[in-house]
Amino acid sequence: GACARTRTRSRAAPAEPAATEAPAEAAAPATEGVVNLTFISGGPGAGLDFTKQQVAEWNAANPDIQVNIIEGPNSATDRFGLYLQTFQAQSSDIDVMEIDVIWPGDLAEHLVDFNEYGGADAVADDFPAIVTNNTVDGRLVGLPFFTDAGLMYYRTDLLEKYGFSGPPTTWDELEEMAQTIQDGERAEGNQDFWGFVWQGLAYEGLTCNALEWVYSSDGGTIVSPDKVITINNDAALNSLDRAYSWIGKISPPGVTSFKEEESRAVWHGGNAAFMRNWPYAFSLSAAEDSAVAGKFDAAPLPGAEAGLSAATLGGWQLGISKYSKNPEAAAKFALWLAGTESQKARAMNVSLIPTKASLYQDEELVTAWPFLPRMLPVLEKAVARPSTATAPQYNEVSNIFFSNVSDVLTGK
Ligand code: GLC
Repeated sequence: GACARTRTRSRAAPAEPAATEAPAEAAAPATEGVVNLTFISGGPGAGLDFTKQQVAEWNAANPDIQVNIIEGPNSATDRFGLYLQTFQAQSSDIDVMEIDVIWPGDLAEHLVDFNEYGGADAVADDFPAIVTNNTVDGRLVGLPFFTDAGLMYYRTDLLEKYGFSGPPTTWDELEEMAQTIQDGERAEGNQDFWGFVWQGLAYEGLTCNALEWVYSSDGGTIVSPDKVITINNDAALNSLDRAYSWIGKISPPGVTSFKEEESRAVWHGGNAAFMRNWPYAFSLSAAEDSAVAGKFDAAPLPGAEAGLSAATLGGWQLGISKYSKNPEAAAKFALWLAGTESQKARAMNVSLIPTKASLYQDEELVTAWPFLPRMLPVLEKAVARPSTATAPQYNEVSNIFFSNVSDVLTGK
């Protein structure tokens, strides 16, 4: 399978196209006394490149534990499939892995308990809800790495131009603003302009978007915390019909094949008034090559009525495979990479937001990203996908959900 082609100890260059050029030291054959670890990372945006730099830093400082970072599939759904395949083969090819916030329950049986390696102290400053999420039957199977929540990015310049005093708080308002701005920009000659872009492909990201529509319409969380299937209700149905009505009107027909980066590409080029995305998009949107630099902000997502709104809770953890031959060295590396200094650097450079409460008061960080403290209320109110209630079958539940939502969106 894919994993056999990504061995660190092999002299040959990895054949897997998804694998990234590893630093020369990491690709070298095993040396006596040196532990070689493989770390599988990935995700949209600049996060991976930054993590590669951090790994290079680690390798320079730790000649006895050398880490080879490889790039997993961008889509969380595909990444889950790859991990499962590796675990089912009980393969020791992967030592450390990035674990989505929804996976601890599904993958716990294949993951090492960090409590055996000083995990309890390491998570003392992490948001308790994330630590609880990562604890399965008393075992801490993931170290919080960064957290995530859905946001509504909007063009401050265009809101002003069309006379809107602030971002929408309801879906009705969003529709009205998106349509007005789209009509105006097209009339001025930009035929590629769209009102609202989001993630409509049939994958985990669609579960996140659709949960936001459903939950913010008072339609529940698909499966309730006490394990009752609740998705069959009128509020949920209406919210999906509403999303269907956007397509071809304020959202491009191609939105049903968008993941995070496809929607960001439209936004980044200055061709969307609104975008639903995660915090990683903030730093990229503010970058020099962005058409929207200095012209945007991010706000909580709207709801069906004022007062109702929802951000799906996302985020990633570091986990260690139970089949790793070097769990102790892997834990050392993971504790460092998930640590406060490393999280601060990640937030500063690529706006992946910390799981450490103290960093939300870090002066340097807050000065660099004033939006960071504004994330706190969003995170507090964020809605969790029903991964705890449905574990170890969350992935299956989500697949059924996003496939059916996709059928609605594509008119089937
Ligand atoms: C982000 C979130 C993750 C979610 C994924 C869906 O990476 O952090 O929780 O599953 O997006 O695309």
